[in-house]
Amino acid sequence: MAKTSAKSEATKEQARARVAALRAQVAYHDHRYHTLDAPEIADAEYDALFAELKALEAAHPDLVVADSPTQKVGGGIRSELFAPVTHSARLLSLDNVFDEVSLEAWYERVKKGLGRDVALVCEPKIDGLSIAVTYESGRFVRAATRGDGAVGEDVTANVATITFPKDLGPSAPRHLEVRGEVFMRRDAFDALNRRLGEEGKALIANPRNGAAGSLRQKDPRETATRPLDLVLHGIVKVEGERFTTYAGALERLREMGLPVHPRSQRVGDLAGAKAYIAKIADARLAIDHDIDGIVIKVDEVGAQEELGATSKAPRWAVAFKLPPEQAHTRLKDIMVSIGRTGAATPFAVLEPVRVGGVTVSMATLHNEDEIARKDLRIGDTIVVQRAGDVIPEVVAPIVEKRAGNEVIFVMPSVCPACGGPLERGEGESVRRCTNLDCSAQTWGRICHFAGRDALDITHLGESTASLLLDQGLVEDAADVFFLTAEQVGQLPGFKDKSVQNLLAAIEAAKDRPIDRLLIALGIRHVGKSAAGALADHFSSIEAIAAASEEELAAVPGLGAIIAKSVAEYFRRETTHRILEKLRRAGVRLAEVREKREGPLLGKTFVVTGTLPGFSREGIEARITELGGKVTSSVSKKTSYVLAGAEPGTKLDKAEKLGVPVLDEAGFLQLCEAPPPSPTEG
Ligand code: IVH
Repeated sequence: MAKTSAKSEATKEQARARVAALRAQVAYHDHRYHTLDAPEIADAEYDALFAELKALEAAHPDLVVADSPTQKVGGGIRSELFAPVTHSARLLSLDNVFDEVSLEAWYERVKKGLGRDVALVCEPKIDGLSIAVTYESGRFVRAATRGDGAVGEDVTANVATITFPKDLGPSAPRHLEVRGEVFMRRDAFDALNRRLGEEGKALIANPRNGAAGSLRQKDPRETATRPLDLVLHGIVKVEGERFTTYAGALERLREMGLPVHPRSQRVGDLAGAKAYIAKIADARLAIDHDIDGIVIKVDEVGAQEELGATSKAPRWAVAFKLPPEQAHTRLKDIMVSIGRTGAATPFAVLEPVRVGGVTVSMATLHNEDEIARKDLRIGDTIVVQRAGDVIPEVVAPIVEKRAGNEVIFVMPSVCPACGGPLERGEGESVRRCTNLDCSAQTWGRICHFAGRDALDITHLGESTASLLLDQGLVEDAADVFFLTAEQVGQLPGFKDKSVQNLLAAIEAAKDRPIDRLLIALGIRHVGKSAAGALADHFSSIEAIAAASEEELAAVPGLGAIIAKSVAEYFRRETTHRILEKLRRAGVRLAEVREKREGPLLGKTFVVTGTLPGFSREGIEARITELGGKVTSSVSKKTSYVLAGAEPGTKLDKAEKLGVPVLDEAGFLQLCEAPPPSPTEG
């Protein structure tokens, strides 16, 4: 007896540990996918983690907690860019099923819940971003992202650039709230990538990332150049109208001219749903946008209401996930790339092949063990797959197709870029080039330094970084601050205008907040959140460099591993050389919190009354994020009073003192004004 309970204790402990690890991983990947638009793993891998977590929680109900990712909607808020919008009803997610057996189980639960049979509607599950759209008196007034389900981001200005009816005419309902998906069609995605390529900009991995990135542009004029589309798949509220079925509601939307999916279809019972799934799976490539499954919904609205929802997903709908799209092609070669940290990553060079509407000619192979495990040989015919994910993946070789002359890959022992040794640390799966002067590493560090999350030097991309290194104009990232017009002018393809653009971008980068500089330095384990924590705590790079490992570890949100890495970084000789160059170049190394950038720089605002498009926190965040300041009382020094509905005495005071008063439209106009030149204000 005692033995059994000790054993079950051990299993419980194992389950607890695994659940904790899975939750952390799922939360991390949720953040990368929903908030940063930068997923790292394939959707199928994510689904597997999620499914394992769900299964463990089902087996150990006492381990379920309210904030487990299985209990909430993924996604988040980047409030520094967009004002928060509280949804009138939560935007839920969908539960997934991966096979017919689980689909049948779902239908059984539905029937049991209702005590009767119900009709179903099926439609493709578009791989895009959920959006909540509101019309008042027939006019489009607001669009918001899902966010955490309760509060999303106000992306009205960006969604307004998408082609769909903004004015539903005089017979439209007074208030209409609908939900749908913003996405990019495949041909539009291809055209966008061609354009980005011609402009020398980074390409987008897949249509979903394209849609996400385009929707979250700071400048709606940029969104307007992106080929986005909208399809609606839900009605939340229509004043004065009531629908008995979902199909009927869609019909009404269609009547109003609103976009609904042409393949949305009433299918009758489960057999109908299965037939629909088979049909769509076959027609997948003929559909002009990515789909990652089929949504099956109970048609009758009354039945939907009866079934209700969990905290995460409705019980009346389910997503049948389709397997990732695959294709066969030849593995022409395996090459090795060296990242900025020296990590050597093998990748597959493929005979170009269309997979899921995107042409694939390269795929990651992760590391040498993975290649051996999959027994991939150069010359093999292989299965490649794209699961709406970032980088296509080589699944397996087709062994029957071997001719016998395929070559087994051997990981090189020297760096392909600098010829230095590639070393594999104990217990590590990667080899690293240990030569800090390796040109590939330097190139990677410069690209990272200039990247969007780092110093954001807009005209310094991968090809310019190569040119600068090839011409010997820079040896490390800090050297870019000493480039002269003459030097840049010698680079192939650079004319007066492009020289000026690059130099202006470099000049602007000298004044970024220090957390951005910390990211730019490329310290191992220091990403956005660690950089923010360091900047908040120390306020200067010098203070961080002088801190001991213990002091660093004591910073809230840092921990031992990051502290060790930071301390080690600042002990290096090369770091001191770089910091010295940054100092000489006049790069900002200490935080001056008030001094920000933006069209509202130097302006002080007082807000009074309720604004239609912003919450109070939302408007204050927007003002500060654009460089302005918010104070609570009106004085002669106040630049503007921003007044909404039912303003208080602040408005009277503004009028008395002659302080300009803005409404929301006036404010938005001001936000779009070009930033004041540094001599102004
Ligand atoms: S209905 C209350 N229908 O998939 C549940 N969702 O993984 C509302 N999606 O957040 C969802 N196509 O953004 C529905 N035809 C469709 C859809 C669809 C794509 C998205 C939606 C949802 C996500 C869940």
